[in-house]
Amino acid sequence: MKRIKLWDKEFEISLTNADIQLAIKQMADKMKSDLEGKETLFICILNGAFIFASELMKELELTDAEISFLKLASYSGTSSTGEVKELIGLNEEIAGRTVVVLEDIVDSGYTVQRVIGQLISKGAKEVKIAALLFKPDALKVDIKLDYIGIRIPNDFIVGFGLDYNRRGRNFKDIYTLVKE
Ligand code: IMP
Ligand code: MG
Repeated sequence: MKRIKLWDKEFEISLTNADIQLAIKQMADKMKSDLEGKETLFICILNGAFIFASELMKELELTDAEISFLKLASYSGTSSTGEVKELIGLNEEIAGRTVVVLEDIVDSGYTVQRVIGQLISKGAKEVKIAALLFKPDALKVDIKLDYIGIRIPNDFIVGFGLDYNRRGRNFKDIYTLVKE
């Protein structure tokens, strides 16, 4: 399937599942050597990162890793609102830990910036960011991304966890909005 329609909008395939899996494999190789022996806490940012987190964690095969979930929302329709809401918070002990944030996509960067602030204020020893996708042209804040899967243009995408108004998360490939 090369095109999908979600609500009122058409999307065209732009990254295949094979492209995405290759990027995740490369991220995992790098992360594994950096994180071996560090008793890392991975934090998956819901909803979007659920598929990425699942695929990455299976590739990592770390024996001392833990995973937890934080549910945030900042997007409405096809653009970022700039306001990040916390819908489900963290219960884990963060102080003194190496924490790796797993994010589906970094757009303006406000979400990741907020998570970094939250983890530092809870006393994390080290905070690293792993983003499957990154839109460099959309970035509005000064943050450092430690692991990036694929850099993409500043277009709206869906699939592999990413949605347009709650739909489209359940596709194995990634699709870009077709501009009318
Ligand atoms: P940021 O706070 O602007 O960096 O946006 C991050 C969040 O917005 C991501 O975690 C996604 O959930 C969502 N988002 C950003 N770009 C897109 C997109 O192109 N499609 C779907 N969701 C997106
Ligand atoms: Mg997200």
